[in-house]
Amino acid sequence: MLNDDMTSADKEKIAGFLHVAGDFLGSGYISEKIDYQFDDIPPTVDGKTVSVKDDSLEQIADEIRGCKNCPLGETRKNAVPGEGAANPLVLVIGEGPGAEEDAQGRPFVGNAGKLLDKMLSSIDLSRTTNCFIANVVKCRPPGNRDPHPQESASCANFLQRQISFLKPKFILLVGNVAAQNVLKTTDRVGKLRGKFTEYKIDGAVIPLLVTYHPSALLHSDEYKRPAWEDLKLLRSKIEESGG
Ligand code: URA
Repeated sequence: MLNDDMTSADKEKIAGFLHVAGDFLGSGYISEKIDYQFDDIPPTVDGKTVSVKDDSLEQIADEIRGCKNCPLGETRKNAVPGEGAANPLVLVIGEGPGAEEDAQGRPFVGNAGKLLDKMLSSIDLSRTTNCFIANVVKCRPPGNRDPHPQESASCANFLQRQISFLKPKFILLVGNVAAQNVLKTTDRVGKLRGKFTEYKIDGAVIPLLVTYHPSALLHSDEYKRPAWEDLKLLRSKIEESGG
């Protein structure tokens, strides 16, 4: 479509999308080149500047619960901000709420969540003591479809603020959607897993590992062994770091 053919509604839509995409690309998502500092570019929510220095988990959660920045806000029952330890050893990031999470307003509480809890517990991690569990999108995509790029872009600011506030020692990304959104790549878990990479935020460098989503393990046995290798790798890196 040529610029002249666009209606003003089209132009407004594209401008809105570029705005969220710009926020997303300029955020703390891993990049060799970008070491995003909140002091440089203040994050905004709904057009309003957010002071990260005054941020708190509860404040972020309240904004998430009231958020209508994308169409998922219209169809959800409950937004799912995330839960866990406020000073986590590991921040686990999944894709987005499913039906059970939408009903309860809590992350990973369905079958995949039960398996996630077992996977974490196998390496002495748990959401009640030393992990925080969050998602790329905080509201359920209808029918459990993957979130659309505009939806994850519009939610990116919340995740970024959560990471900045939580300052986890490690990040574990489960599944393609988390890996691709956080690492800004089109590569899939099969290629990204099995090695640590770095997530840079606020001048800090957080070791980050990708593994399969627990629901992939529920559907196919072939992912169980590599996922277990990844968990052992995470455990040994935690021990190396004195955690
Ligand atoms: N799958 C996810 O990625 N996140 C949840 O919270 C639940 C299922």
